[in-house]
Amino acid sequence: MTQLEFSTLTPGKPVRIVVSGKPVCVTRVGEEVFAVADTCTHSEAALSEGDVTGFKIECWLHGAEFDLRTGEALTLPAVESLEVFSVEKSGDLLTINEKTGAN
Ligand code: FES
Repeated sequence: MTQLEFSTLTPGKPVRIVVSGKPVCVTRVGEEVFAVADTCTHSEAALSEGDVTGFKIECWLHGAEFDLRTGEALTLPAVESLEVFSVEKSGDLLTINEKTGAN
C-alpha cells in the first residue's frame, strides 16, 4: 500500500511510485486517478514516461497503447494486459493497493 496526495498530480502527467515492491504508473485523468503497472508488457520501458491521451497511455519506446482503466493492451506490439492497482480517494489522500486477496 502506498499513499500520495491527489493535489500533487497533474492531469495527463503520470508519476511512478512503488507499491509492494512493484513500479506503478499513477495517472490523473480529469478528477479520476488510475494506477497500472509501470513496466510495459512488451519490453522494459517505463510507461510513466509515455504520453497520455484520454484514458490511454502510449509507451514511448515502440508505441503500444494501453487502457488506463482496465490495463488492456490496445495496440501492438504489446499483447499482454498490465496489472491494475486499486485507487481509493479520501479527501486529498490517495491509497494505491494491489488488487489481490482481501482488496
Ligand atoms: S517496450 Fe513498450 S511498446 Fe515496446
